Amino acid sequence: MFKFLSGLFSRDIGIDLGSSNTVVYVKGRGIVIDEPSVLAVRKVGMKGRKDIIAFGSPAKRMIGKTPQGIVTIRPMQHGVIADFDMTEQMVGHYMSEANQGRRLMAHPRVAICVPAGVTEVEKRAVVDATLGAGAREAFVVEEPLAAALGTGLPINEPRGNMVVDIGGGTSEVAVLSLGGVVLSSSLRAAGDDIDSAIISMMRQNYTLSIGESTAEEVKSQIGSVIPLDEELEMEVKGRDLMDGLPKVVIVTSGEVRDAIETIICRIEDMLRYAVEQTPPELVKDIVDQGFVLTGGSSQLRGLNVRFSDAINVPVHMAEQPLFSVALGLGKLLETVDRGDKIAVTVDHSSV
Ligand SMILES: Nc1ncnc2c1ncn2[C@@H]1O[C@H](COP(=O)(O)OP(=O)(O)OP(=O)(O)O)[C@@H](O)[C@H]1O
Ligand SMILES: [Mg+2]
Repeated sequence: MFKFLSGLFSRDIGIDLGSSNTVVYVKGRGIVIDEPSVLAVRKVGMKGRKDIIAFGSPAKRMIGKTPQGIVTIRPMQHGVIADFDMTEQMVGHYMSEANQGRRLMAHPRVAICVPAGVTEVEKRAVVDATLGAGAREAFVVEEPLAAALGTGLPINEPRGNMVVDIGGGTSEVAVLSLGGVVLSSSLRAAGDDIDSAIISMMRQNYTLSIGESTAEEVKSQIGSVIPLDEELEMEVKGRDLMDGLPKVVIVTSGEVRDAIETIICRIEDMLRYAVEQTPPELVKDIVDQGFVLTGGSSQLRGLNVRFSDAINVPVHMAEQPLFSVALGLGKLLETVDRGDKIAVTVDHSSV
């Protein structure tokens, strides 16, 4: 009886629980939450109790600026749970926000993504965190499958569809046909590693210490992976490691490009390997139709050109690279109850 009632009041939701951003789709309403996957906590007492003082954007703004006793936490790292309790709290908070605060009224059914190639234990942790956060049922969907659906690829047709998702913590490639993943590969190197490479470069070239947020700003403003017609430059402020004093330096897009080249090469290798493993009939389709590039880091200048050259296939940029996965989950939620034929396999757990 209770389950029946809660079914009436709750809405099905889809959660893209990313290393950098959490995006929530509510059935019938669309995307309602798009927030960084960050929390700020205050440590209380000797036992190390943690009081959460901020979620999402306000917490992200605190990164690198917190006083003693307050820390910022990114509970998802490289697409998997690094801090279970904090992930559960964060998912619970966003689920309740998506329900417009009616926490007790609704125990939604939740479709949630995990990167391709995670272990069963890592997958189980995501399910447990979702159920612990108040979901009635949890459906696990492979991230590339949701990304492909969200970018509008006709994944149910008997044809090779290729999607490449470069996020914050993981880079993924998948080939899909007839509603299923034919092959997928995932690399724990993406936007976060690019930020780290920029931090190291600033340290080595200029003895300048900068934080994660500044590195991300440098990447977005002047980052590129191909030579630009007009190279860019930017003023970067930080602390000089030699004398500990503030310092301002001018950094060029060329320097940033050199610093991140190794990471881009590793992702290109993954793409080449995926194509090598793809059955020839599907490769033929991919050569004809190209592949779709999505994920926040796909916005890095020239990445489409680099990847297209690396595997000799045309590339299409996703219209909403930060939302592809959540939109794909939304499509699943919207179509499943209509009884449309959508031959995807999902793992399912309920409380
Ligand atoms: N304009 C831009 N240029 C380059 N990188 C960008 C830009 N905008 C956002 N990013 C990067 O995109 C990444 C976040 O992308 P996204 O939200 O797709 O990741 P995620 O889904 O949270 O992570 P993952 O799927 O890897 O777990 C961050 O590393 C961010 O710095
Ligand atoms: Mg993602």
